[in-house]
Amino acid sequence: MGFCTGIFMQDYNHFLTMGIESSCDDTSVAVLKGNQTLLAMVKKSQVELHQDFGGVVPEIAARGHTESIFPVMQKALEEAGVKLQEIDLFAATCGPGLVGSLLVGQTLGKTLAMGLNKPFIGVHHLEAHLAANFLEQDDLRFPMVGLLVSGGHSCLYYMETEGEYEILGETRDDAVGELYDKISRELGFGQPGGPVIDKIAASTKCAAVKFTPPLLHSPDFDFSFSGLKTACLKAIQRGDDREGIARGMQEAVIEVLVTKTMRAVREKLSKTLIMAGGVSANRGLRDEFSKRCLENDIRLAVPSIKLCTDNGAMVAKCGFDSYSRGYRSNLTVDVFSRLSLENLYE
Ligand code: KG4
Ligand code: ZN
Repeated sequence: MGFCTGIFMQDYNHFLTMGIESSCDDTSVAVLKGNQTLLAMVKKSQVELHQDFGGVVPEIAARGHTESIFPVMQKALEEAGVKLQEIDLFAATCGPGLVGSLLVGQTLGKTLAMGLNKPFIGVHHLEAHLAANFLEQDDLRFPMVGLLVSGGHSCLYYMETEGEYEILGETRDDAVGELYDKISRELGFGQPGGPVIDKIAASTKCAAVKFTPPLLHSPDFDFSFSGLKTACLKAIQRGDDREGIARGMQEAVIEVLVTKTMRAVREKLSKTLIMAGGVSANRGLRDEFSKRCLENDIRLAVPSIKLCTDNGAMVAKCGFDSYSRGYRSNLTVDVFSRLSLENLYE
C-alpha cells in the first residue's frame, strides 16, 4: 500500500483540504479546515439524468460530472469563504467506481495541485466512507469493526488500528444498495430505492411478506443478496402486496446485517462499531444497531445522513488523515475500478 514517511509534527489547525468526489452519480466538493472543521460541502446529484434508463449510465454520468464539477467547486469555495489559492491539499477519489466518472474528479484535483504547486492525494472510496465517522466523532477507539453498505459494496472490516483494514467478509454477488434499487424499481417506487423502501417499511400497515435472511447462519462473514432479490421478484410476480414486500425485504436485510456484524464484534473482542455507506442512512438499520449496541455495551458510530451517501467531505477527511500520517500520492496515480488500496501512494 505504498510507504508512510511517519507522523509530521506540523500544526494543522488552519490547514485547508479540498475533497473531490465523482466516483458514481454524485458530484461533490468539500472544504475541510484542520482535522474536523467542515467549512463547506456541496453536492449535485444526477438522479434525474439517469431516471429514464433504470440505472446509472456510465457515459452520461461522466458527462454530468464534467458539466457540474466547476460550478460545484465554485459554490464550495464561496460557502467556505476560501480562495482556491488558499487550499493546502487537493484530495480526489481514485476508485473504486466508474472509470469515466473517476477521471473527472481526479483530473480536476491533479490539475489544481500541479497548477498551484500543492500536494495531491488519491483517496480510496471505501476508506473515505469509513472516514466519515472520524469527521464527526473524536472518541472512537481501536480496534473496531466497520460495516460498509452502499450501492456497490457490502463489506465487513476489522480495523486493528488507524488506516489498517482487514476484510472479514463481503457480498458474494449483489450489494445491498443494489438490491434496494432494483426491487424499488420493480415495485414502481422509483430511484434511489433505499430511502423510499425505508420510509414505506416504517410506515406501512401491511403485514411483512416473509423472506429468509440470506446466509444468516453461515460460519463466515460473507453476505449474498441475489437470492433475496429473486425471492422478492417472485413475490412481485405472485401479486403479493407491494408495501408488504418492501417491509419484508427490509426486515430480512436488517436481520442478516445486524446478526453477522454483531457476531464479528463479539469474535473480534471489539468495543466499537462504525457503519458507513449509503445504506447506513437506513432508519430501520440504524435503530436496530442502536438497540443491539446499547444492550451489548458497544460504542456505535454512524455518520449523519448527509455524510452516509457519496460526498466530498469524507474524501477531504480521508485525504487529510492519510496526508497527516505522512502518505503522498504523485500525479501519475491512476484511476482504478476494483477494490484496492495499492498504488495510491508513491
Ligand atoms: O454510498 P452511496 O451514495 O454510493 C455508492 O458508493 O454506491 O450509496 C448509494 C446507495 C443506493 O443504492 C441507495 O439506494 C442507498 O445507498 N441508500 C439507502 C438509503 N439511502 C440511500 N439504502 C437503504 N436505506 C436508505 N435510507
Ligand atoms: Zn459510495
